Amino acid sequence: MTNLKLLEQEISDRLNQAADVKAVEEIKIAYLGRKGMIACLFQELKSLPSSEKPEAGKLLNALKIQAEELFQKKLTTIGSSEKLDSDFDETLPGAQYETGRLHPITLVIREITSIFTQLGFEIVDGREVETEFYNFTALNIPLDHPSRDSFDTFYLNQGCLLRSQTSTVQIREMQKRKPPLRILAPGRVYRPDAVDASHSFMFHQIEGLWVDDRATFSDLKGILHLFLRKLFGKDVQMRFRPHFFPFTEPSVEVDVKWKKGWLELLGAGQVDPAVFSAVGYDTKKVQGFAFGLGVERIAMLKYGVNDIRLFFENGLRFLKQF
Ligand code: PHE
Repeated sequence: MTNLKLLEQEISDRLNQAADVKAVEEIKIAYLGRKGMIACLFQELKSLPSSEKPEAGKLLNALKIQAEELFQKKLTTIGSSEKLDSDFDETLPGAQYETGRLHPITLVIREITSIFTQLGFEIVDGREVETEFYNFTALNIPLDHPSRDSFDTFYLNQGCLLRSQTSTVQIREMQKRKPPLRILAPGRVYRPDAVDASHSFMFHQIEGLWVDDRATFSDLKGILHLFLRKLFGKDVQMRFRPHFFPFTEPSVEVDVKWKKGWLELLGAGQVDPAVFSAVGYDTKKVQGFAFGLGVERIAMLKYGVNDIRLFFENGLRFLKQF
């Protein structure tokens, strides 16, 4: 029994001195191998008197289990410290995953739509391929109006065209439902303009329409002022300038004070009765106002971008800044 205790001590001492996996394996073979020390002791067990066999066998088994545990422990500690030394540096930064981000135009559209949804506007979608009826006729735009010219509108086959304004959505929505309604329609529009720093053949507009039994010009002014304050800060200055649109009367262009001068930002006005008639609304019972703004123009102001083409070139150096 004392011999076995000593043997256990011996194994543990030798293991303490072992520096690497190889040394541990060697010691393990010497004690636990097929021809190792412990196997030899099991052999000797046979020659003991049978009265002593059970007790001695029990002790020897216990030693074997104890020894196996010692080796296992030692191998785990050596294993993890060797790993640490070789290929794992916990001070290195973790793997970097690049997340996507929203396009600046999307950001501006979301900001604007969230302002208007707080004012009770519902976001609706229209079509980019339209007919002359929705893009012009129902909007009270006469046949000889210059915007119908093919220099100003992309015509497709079979009487279709790419919409040149989001005002088309006014007509589609009013045809679909009864007043009152309060809608906002963001989307792409197309015009055959020569591309330069401030023109693109495709850009984005947001159309607003408010129809009720009472929706006055001063409501329009209030709503737009509130909107511009939320967008540009409470000190923003705006000005209504008389203008003409076939689908609103009276019509205005709205400017904001920007640096030294005034900058045109959107078109607006009271819905022309001819438009209500085109969608079958009773012009004596409803009134309303509409407005349309260019998203790129606002994005350029907000972010200090001086060339509209940057939005559409997909350059990562540009896009990563938002
Ligand atoms: N559709 C006009 C444009 O594209 C803007 C506008 C919308 C003006 C609604 C008045 C009312 O210029």
